[in-house]
Amino acid sequence: MPAATGSDRAAVPAPAGSADAVPYRVVDGDHVDANTLKGWQTWRAMACDRCHGPDQEGLVGPSLVQSLKVMTKDEFKAAVLDGRVEKGMPGFSAVQTVVDNIDNLYAYLKGRSDGAIKPGKLKGIE
Ligand code: HEC
Repeated sequence: MPAATGSDRAAVPAPAGSADAVPYRVVDGDHVDANTLKGWQTWRAMACDRCHGPDQEGLVGPSLVQSLKVMTKDEFKAAVLDGRVEKGMPGFSAVQTVVDNIDNLYAYLKGRSDGAIKPGKLKGIE
């Protein structure tokens, strides 16, 4: 584990395009940018909550609030698209909605993991 670079780091969005860029925008915890909203809608449409819980806190599958604290975006994409079929995680690479929205799903779940996005229903910003 590299040393923490400061506990305030997560609160300060990095410049767009940098590796650390925060992938979502959120206002009041439940108003999000259009892409993050699509990520949430994809989560709902695919019923990921059946296995990961309605608040992503884990059920038969692990807590994604925890997982997204340590997984890289590439690891996330591989887990969701390839799946880990022998361990009960289906692969979604044949599901066009998921392929099209993988970045959006990541943005949504990262926001949940960061504690910036509230569990439950979301709306668009403005
Ligand atoms: C049928 C149950 C099931 C469904 C549906 C499901 N998952 Fe999973 N998922 C699992 C299980 C079980 C694991 C743990 C696999 C393992 O042990 O490596 C997992 C693992 C993961 C991981 C890796 C977590 C880590 O810490 O390594 C991610 C990310 C993930 N799932 C995201 C999703 C998303 C996003 C969806 C919806 C598109 C989804 N899952 C739908 C059961 C499910």
